[in-house]
Amino acid sequence: MQETILVLDFGTPATQLILRCIRDCGVHSQLVPYTISAEKVRQLKPKGIVLDGDDKLVDPEIFKIEGVGNIHRVGEFLPDLELHIRSFIECDGYQCTWTMKNFAADAIERYRNEIGDDEVICGLSGGVDSAVVAAILSKAVGRQLKCICVDSGMMRKGEIESVTEAFQKYFDAEFHMVDASEGFLKRLAGVEEPQEKRRIIGHYFIDVFTETAQKFPNVRHLAQGTIYPDVIESVATKLHHNVGGLPEKLGFNLVEPLRELFKDEVRKLGIELGLPEDFVWRHPFPGPGLAVRCLGEVTREKLDSLCAADAIVVEEIQQAGLYRQTSQAFAVLLPVKSVGVTDGKRTYDNAVAIRCVATDDFMTADWFPLPAEVLRKMSARIIDEVPGVNRVVYDISNKPPATIEWE
Ligand code: XMP
Repeated sequence: MQETILVLDFGTPATQLILRCIRDCGVHSQLVPYTISAEKVRQLKPKGIVLDGDDKLVDPEIFKIEGVGNIHRVGEFLPDLELHIRSFIECDGYQCTWTMKNFAADAIERYRNEIGDDEVICGLSGGVDSAVVAAILSKAVGRQLKCICVDSGMMRKGEIESVTEAFQKYFDAEFHMVDASEGFLKRLAGVEEPQEKRRIIGHYFIDVFTETAQKFPNVRHLAQGTIYPDVIESVATKLHHNVGGLPEKLGFNLVEPLRELFKDEVRKLGIELGLPEDFVWRHPFPGPGLAVRCLGEVTREKLDSLCAADAIVVEEIQQAGLYRQTSQAFAVLLPVKSVGVTDGKRTYDNAVAIRCVATDDFMTADWFPLPAEVLRKMSARIIDEVPGVNRVVYDISNKPPATIEWE
């Protein structure tokens, strides 16, 4: 049984820091609202509780619960929070067994029992989170796991091939690729408004997934790559894109092995499960894919140009050894035309913006200062290799106020 410290969330800026610091010491920690009832605390059976807010706001019964030996009070203004946390973890004899190796072993065992002889379905997006979920479940139940990858036609260049290849190499489960690109393009024809594009893509994805899922009558569980920031954000804002949707509609039991992990923990877990480094360090990619980077109406021709420009951006970042230092890098096809000259002839063609940011949590982000040499090469290659593009600009906007995606 894993020892847990509950961190009561008073909404202070230090809360997540405290949580991370405890986990870095090897002890499992979980964020709960400061309004949590004593009854709920009893069910969670923590070995300790951390408070960085006013005791008087907390249910007084909590302090009387038997078995909760340690109440740790940390000031927000504490000069050395990390040192303070390290010292109480050492002094109070915590076991420090929270490692991704243990997490992997526990998760495989737990889902092997929970899923039993049933079948489980999992959508693969090409991202790290869904791949790690599939890795856990393929080790837990093997070919009872049915993975579905929906090709929306809005993926990066070579993405479908690399997901297929990675799957065959690293998983012992069933894999089904569904080519729905025509259907997505048809539904997006003439649509320019970003939220409407997202809505159409989200709905059609659910339709395609549902239809495919029905081909597996023995499936009882749906696995999803929800991670902890999705959960915290959805509680805070109810707005996050990855939460909600599929499960209610399909009526499956939801399996979310990563629900309590941060992104860097998911990456470590991926390595423990045998996924290759370059796969677990992939930049995140939005659900609606290239559609939110192809501004205005999405057409096959525009997607082809964007795909080619985007591949050049990523290649050059990798070539310069900057992939791990950056958090997201991509091209955006702008709905503007400008005048240029090629081989002495006037052109009137599209512009591409390069976006490259560094961030820890994707809630805020800084534009990344790519070296001039890298930008020069990207620009020259895009203009030279991508038909219909005669101008490249670099996005130097931070989030906030700009978002990372352009739509
Ligand atoms: P923004 O553009 O809001 O993006 O600064 C923050 C992070 O979220 C990703 N993103 C999405 N992910 N569906 C997703 O699954 C979406 O509709 C979506 N929009 C943005 C974005 O790529 C960045 O990592």
